[in-house]
Order: sequence, then C-alpha cells, then structure tokens
Amino acid sequence: MESTRKHLIELLTKQEGHISGQQLSEQLNISRTAVWKHMNELKKDGYEIEAVQRKGYKIHGFPDKISENTLQWGLETRWMGHQLYHYDQVESTQEIVHQMAKQGKPHGTVVVADEQVGGKGRMARSWDSPKGKGIWMSFLLKPDLPPVEAPQLTLLAATVIAKMIDERSDLEPQIKWPNDVLIHHKKVSGILTEMQAEQDTIQYIVLGIGMNVNQEEEDIPSDIRYKASSFKIESGLDWNIQKTIQHFLTLFESSYDQFIRDGFQSVKEDWEKYGYKIGENVTISTMKETWEATLLGIEPDGALRARRKTGEEEKLYSAEIHWGEGGYLA
Ligand code: BTN
Repeated sequence: MESTRKHLIELLTKQEGHISGQQLSEQLNISRTAVWKHMNELKKDGYEIEAVQRKGYKIHGFPDKISENTLQWGLETRWMGHQLYHYDQVESTQEIVHQMAKQGKPHGTVVVADEQVGGKGRMARSWDSPKGKGIWMSFLLKPDLPPVEAPQLTLLAATVIAKMIDERSDLEPQIKWPNDVLIHHKKVSGILTEMQAEQDTIQYIVLGIGMNVNQEEEDIPSDIRYKASSFKIESGLDWNIQKTIQHFLTLFESSYDQFIRDGFQSVKEDWEKYGYKIGENVTISTMKETWEATLLGIEPDGALRARRKTGEEEKLYSAEIHWGEGGYLA
C-alpha cells in the first residue's frame, strides 16, 4: 500500500477520538486538501470514516478485504502479530518468515497471504492455497526451549485451531495426531513447523498454518476431495477471514504463554479433548514397519502412545496413522 495512505490509516487507527485535518496534514507532511482527497479514496475502498466539523476524522470500520491494517484493527494481543505483514500473493509464507528471522524480526512476527503459489505441506508435499479462500499464515517464534520440545508447539497450534473452530461454530473439530485438524473426518487444517537450532538451543521456529476456510466443494482438488474439506463446506456458512485470524492469534498467544509458564500439561489436556480415534483401532506406519494398533493417547511430552495387538505399548515420535474404509494416509 502507498506509504502516505498506510501512515494515514495508522494515525486514524491509533487515535481514540477524532483527529483533526490539521494534525493529519502536519504529521503526514501533506496539505489539508491532500488529506481530504485521501479520505475520499479510503471511503471509496470501503473504509468507514466519519468527518465532524471542528473535531476531525474518526475511523469506524475497515473493508472486507484483509490488509495489515484490517488485521491489526481490534487485535488485542500483547505480542502476537504486533509486526504483521500481508501479501496478496507469495510462493510460501514460510520462506518469507525465514528471511525475516534472518533479518532479526521479533518473536510473534506474522505473515499472512491471500494466495500461495508454492505452498508447502509436511513431508515435502505441496499445499493448495487458493486466493482468498483460506488462511495461509506463518509466524516467527523464539522460545527458550530445548529443540526436542519444539514438536510440542505443533500440538499446541493444533489445539488452538480446534478450540477456535469450536468457539466460532457448532462444528466438532478433532485432531489427528500429531497435528491435522479434521471436521467430519476430513482434513481442514494443517501445520508445518520448521526449526533453526544450534546444539541445545532453538534459534527460531517458523510455524506455518494452513486453514481451508471458504472453499466450496469444487475449489478442493478432485484427487483429495474424499479426505479434505473446508470450514464452509462443513458448516454451510461463510467465515470472516479477518476475524478468524484475529481469534486464532489471540487464542494462540494465551495458550503459548501458558505453555511457556506451566509446561505441556495444559496443552495435553486440550489436545486430548479433541484427539481423533483415541481408544480406536488404526493402522500405523513408521519408517520401519506397518502394524495394527489401538491409539491410547499422548504422553506428557506429546509423543503418541499406541498398543500393538500383542499388548505391547509403544511411544512414537513420528508415524502416519491410517484406518479402514475411506481412511487415508496423511
Ligand atoms: C500439512 O498438513 O502438511 C501442513 C500444511 C501447512 C500449510 C501452511 S499454509 C501457510 C504456510 N506456508 C506454507 O507454505 N505452508 C504453511
């Protein structure tokens, strides 16, 4: 966005009451006529701006299209998303956050894109990210944790997505270990965690979240339609992407703070509320073998606990879970 316009929106957003044309012209270093012209342009773009004689201007509402300003408007977090960047189209928000980490951007920096043309999934898969239909977002975290605990953050993110869906709808989200969020047995959201670590310290983590929000059936690639869906398909309702992002960021911040303060226990409890196929029989594939198992739950460190037919119990850090008729390998 043009920088004067961006600055103008920032000034209007920060101001509690009205801000006068004079103040705006001084702070933006432009004439009062230019301020007035910018206001008219903003109104045309869907910003709701009130102009009151002798008091000045006040912003009341933002357009539907998401932008840095609309995302930050009304976002009441303490650190999450205080640096927030929005792009119309990117290869992958993951790459942008990696670059930002190298430039020294702070913990909690968020990058959101309307569309990704090279969206990445786990295990070198691609992630379909059509324009304006979902939430394609990555953020930078710099936790003071040993690298072995990083996967717990992925489980945390999955519980936050599930909680957010739960709070915003009548849907009953579930989490397929470790971190696929499902609705009515179909995947609607995935998480990609990438870490830069040195010996015993995490330098930074890039946590990428993909949420299929407003896709219609025909927007989902036909080869994955049997196993992938969207919030809209499952709820029959259009979701407001801006509010959904804000809700997610707010919940994420408080769950993250609690996790750093009290450890994984609180995440474990939430995860178990949404855990998929816990107590049920599934097939598990690891690098070494494929076997029939009963899922038992998660361990205090986030690992999956499963029981073999022979009764032996296993603790797994990396595995694929699949199940019978219609079940899938994710
Ligand atoms: C998965 O389930 O395989 C993980 C999918 C992660 C997708 C998100 S979308 C935002 C971020 N940018 C990417 O390229 N990938 C993640």
